[in-house]
Amino acid sequence: MTIPDPSRRRFLRLTALGGGATFVAARRGPSLAARARRAGERADAIVDGPAAAPDGASVVAAQDEILELAMAAVVDRAQLRPGEPTTVWRYQASVTAGDPARLQAVDGPFPGPIIRVRQGMRLRVAFTNHLREDTTVHWHGLNVPAAMDGHPSAAVAPGAAYAYDFEVRNPPGTYWFHPHPHGRTGAQVYRGLAGLLIVDEAPDDPRLAALPAGLRDLPLIVQDRTLDDVNALVYTQSVMGFLGDDIFVNGRERAVVDVERAAYRVRVLNGSNHRILKLGWRDGGRVTVVGTDGGLLDAPALRPYVMLGPGERIELLADLRALPPGAERALDSLAFRDDSMAMGARLPQGAAAQVVTLRVRGAPSPGGGRAWLPIGFVGRGGGRAGVVGRGEDRPAGAVDDRLAADRPAAARPSAAHRADTIPADRTIALRLQNGIFTLNGRTYDMDAVADDEIVRLGAEEVWAFVNEGAQAGMGMGMMMAGAHVMHVHLVRFRVVERGHDGRFAAAYATVADGLVDEGWKDTVLVMPGETVKVRATFGDFTGTYLYHCHMLEHEDQGMMRNFRVDP
Ligand code: C2O
Ligand code: CU
Ligand code: CU
Repeated sequence: MTIPDPSRRRFLRLTALGGGATFVAARRGPSLAARARRAGERADAIVDGPAAAPDGASVVAAQDEILELAMAAVVDRAQLRPGEPTTVWRYQASVTAGDPARLQAVDGPFPGPIIRVRQGMRLRVAFTNHLREDTTVHWHGLNVPAAMDGHPSAAVAPGAAYAYDFEVRNPPGTYWFHPHPHGRTGAQVYRGLAGLLIVDEAPDDPRLAALPAGLRDLPLIVQDRTLDDVNALVYTQSVMGFLGDDIFVNGRERAVVDVERAAYRVRVLNGSNHRILKLGWRDGGRVTVVGTDGGLLDAPALRPYVMLGPGERIELLADLRALPPGAERALDSLAFRDDSMAMGARLPQGAAAQVVTLRVRGAPSPGGGRAWLPIGFVGRGGGRAGVVGRGEDRPAGAVDDRLAADRPAAARPSAAHRADTIPADRTIALRLQNGIFTLNGRTYDMDAVADDEIVRLGAEEVWAFVNEGAQAGMGMGMMMAGAHVMHVHLVRFRVVERGHDGRFAAAYATVADGLVDEGWKDTVLVMPGETVKVRATFGDFTGTYLYHCHMLEHEDQGMMRNFRVDP
């Protein structure tokens, strides 16, 4: 029997002589060796890559140093609307080693689950693909070895398994996981393959002390979906992007969450394929941002509203301690102007919509405050003013008033950085070329890494993302220009500069107040005419990773490239 170097912190898959497999977390050589000897087990494999899923046996884990899951992508049904259940794809998981409380369901029928870990922990996921097509699991925002990143070249075939196994190196924050197969990410996420991975703070984290006492956690996955008249999910891949008719929060439409009279840390993931959210309180109160993609801010940031592109996360503080029982606070997605021509059947990009209502438990709210219906209305800041959708019953004026409350451009925090002062190591043009979106004119090629896509291990670099908007001469009689939301695997970054070339200024004015650049990010909105510069350090791992637009139809149609970190 060989015991591997314990400092490598690998896992041993130990097969008991009696039969079933036992998964053991190996942190300390002696205790593992002793345990193995005691049990008369045989260390028969070091699981480092594709491997069989556990076959459901007993489990030993070191004290909360490891979390080990058996997880599968399966076809299932979920009750998304009254009537027929909806066929969905989902991650089904169970804890095979470690604290069972670290695996949670979302509060709602879809999607999930939530995996809660802490920094420094080992996460091992024995994944099995029960779908009829290739998939991978990508750990969005996580700093993991290339073989663990769910790269499309590491596709898990139908019926096959893969052992994801890595140390959680990221600082506390709200991360997520989803498939990343070549050309099929959008379709798979849309059907329900998405979960949260939350790295919790240590209880003595000083940033927690700055937040209200008794803070509660409320994770919300916001996604737009279209269901047909028998409640089947409708999805069509279009290079312009797919927009669902209705907003679902944890799988619920017009979600109402019963809350305590307490302060909530609302962690919002925009898990939509293409829809950008402009989150604002319906009552007009300022939004208190306490965290971004990479965790808590040093100090809360106040905004009239916050922009959240697909793949981005934001953490908002909802302090409900002073509210009477039955009171409600509603979060809407406010109207903004969008010139991308991405047509939602009923709810265009930039259309106002209701997202979620927090209702304080207790007596019913006075004035029958229960009901709000979809708004489906595009405000006067939008390019489609006059388009009126469903929801004639909406509370009068609620969203219109918020638009009026937008501050003038001069007062915008994000307008302070318009200069082009920070030199970029790499410039990536987001460009529509021959009818598809490209990165510097290139589209995805699974095996290709261009010379200018090679980064040195340990390098600190500034990447400039330039949203060129559309060329003239599209033959549509107008300029077409949409946002992109750029994501870089492996690293976290800081937004160090935003510049705007002045085109599409009317659209920019409806979103600029809500861009939050204060914290760590891994995904960032780049508006038409805008240049966003981000600074990252490419430490820790070599290998091939991805950078791409997180609008999933853009990504699937090729708005993605490899980059490689070389020693
Ligand atoms: Cu959230 Cu490359 O992905
Ligand atoms: Cu990612
Ligand atoms: Cu894009």
